[in-house]
Amino acid sequence: MKRIAIMASGNGSNAESLITKAQELETKLNVVLVITDQPKAYVIERCKKHYIPCLIIEKKSDKSEHEKNILSVLKDFKIDWILLAGYMRILSPTFLKQYPKRVINIHPSLLPAFPGKSGYEDAFAANVTKSGVTIHYVDEGIDTGEIIMQESFNRMKDDTFSDFKNRGMNLEYKLYQQTLEWIANGKI
Ligand code: GRF
Repeated sequence: MKRIAIMASGNGSNAESLITKAQELETKLNVVLVITDQPKAYVIERCKKHYIPCLIIEKKSDKSEHEKNILSVLKDFKIDWILLAGYMRILSPTFLKQYPKRVINIHPSLLPAFPGKSGYEDAFAANVTKSGVTIHYVDEGIDTGEIIMQESFNRMKDDTFSDFKNRGMNLEYKLYQQTLEWIANGKI
């Protein structure tokens, strides 16, 4: 049984989509824990709805202290895989060394195009005709780790930003659920 933790800082729609998918895969894996660094993040409400423990671990002093606190919880819960879902901090090499090729991120662009915090905004502002979603292993860079899967979606001529983003979010749920299935089946 693989034990999954999700880390999220905000809305948590990807986290919830993963939690839902995990119910289908429950003979092979469980989402046992969600960690957030933001005490007001909406992901906390979503976890309540699904009876998944959501631990709030705020950054109170320096980064290494914060990561130590997170690592100690991950060890306590015997976590095998960590899925970042809108987690807005860069994890240090010291942290990542504890989970080699076991930390995954979802990014809303066709990496290496438009890395960073505003994938949708940047791609839309650049007037791309196609954007996409990338699932990748996390390394010490910003959205630079080895790509696991990537799929594109079209920007239609009359798209508002929110049409464009909604199309991308739906693709995000699909690809992250697929990733969870790959983990369950030992494909990655
Ligand atoms: C998503 O667009 C994800 O790709 C990015 O942050 C956003 C999180 O959205 N890393 P949500 O919190 O899952 O709704």
